[in-house]
Amino acid sequence: MKISVCGKGGSGKSVIVALLADEIKRRGYQVLVVDSDESNSALYRILGFDQPPEPILELVGGKKKLQQKMASRFSSGESEPKMSVLSQDKILVKEIPPQHIRHSNGLALVNIGKILHSLEGCACPMGVLTREFLVKLSLDDKGIAVVDMEAGIEHFGRGVATSLDTVLIVVEPSFESLQLASRISVLAAESGVRMTKAVLNKVASPEMAAKLQDELKKRGIEPIGVVRYDPEIFAATLEGRKPGNCLASDDIKHVVDALLPSAKS
Ligand SMILES: Nc1ncnc2c1ncn2[C@@H]1O[C@H](COP(=O)(O)OP(=O)(O)O)[C@@H](O)[C@H]1O
Ligand SMILES: [Mg+2]
Repeated sequence: MKISVCGKGGSGKSVIVALLADEIKRRGYQVLVVDSDESNSALYRILGFDQPPEPILELVGGKKKLQQKMASRFSSGESEPKMSVLSQDKILVKEIPPQHIRHSNGLALVNIGKILHSLEGCACPMGVLTREFLVKLSLDDKGIAVVDMEAGIEHFGRGVATSLDTVLIVVEPSFESLQLASRISVLAAESGVRMTKAVLNKVASPEMAAKLQDELKKRGIEPIGVVRYDPEIFAATLEGRKPGNCLASDDIKHVVDALLPSAKS
């Protein structure tokens, strides 16, 4: 099963990915976290890793090589959402070279690639690579990939969502975030994603939760959980560490109950 966590920048995608990964692992699954947001710098820290793995981008010779490969594919008429740049037909977690996958606290982490320098060009190569990596990633019944997606909706245009079972939209208390959730749910449906749900995040009161739930329902999106604004999450992310047991880790249990009904705690 492949679950992608989408939403507005700063809505809490990386935090929700980390909370989900821990809770899904606790229920007996093997969790692979896929960091596909080229601007994330701290996901590995909030997951409790000392270091990030080497980018998958290096497996194909780095960004420049990939850009050259893509340019030649474009000139031979291939379109970006269908382009193939990986030589493998199938990616098994156990066959990912060790420098490109890290394991800690029972979780595995891969990282597609980051923008590191100014003027290095757009993130298109990462989009192409993410799509193909997710399409070819082969998981068994107990394997779940949790994908930390880049902010916004560009990845839908690149076809990144085509192999996803579930899109989970993180919605923070703002109009922008709600509007983006509407766009995402339409694009996810167009991409053939089976299930699109939303989780409210950084919610400060039950009244706020009720109002936001109504707003989501008006937009035809089902909220499956409410994660409270949690000072421990704020402190942990600021200090670049894994959050301790906190309100938010309790709240995420309801979200996992809805995502994996057969694995209720
Ligand atoms: N439930 C929460 N409670 C308190 N702060 C939160 C919560 N979720 C996210 N945050 C704060 O919001 C910031 C952005 O979260 P992050 O997961 O990095 O967003 P994104 O990945 O969507 O850009 C974090 O640094 C953290 O301080
Ligand atoms: Mg993030």
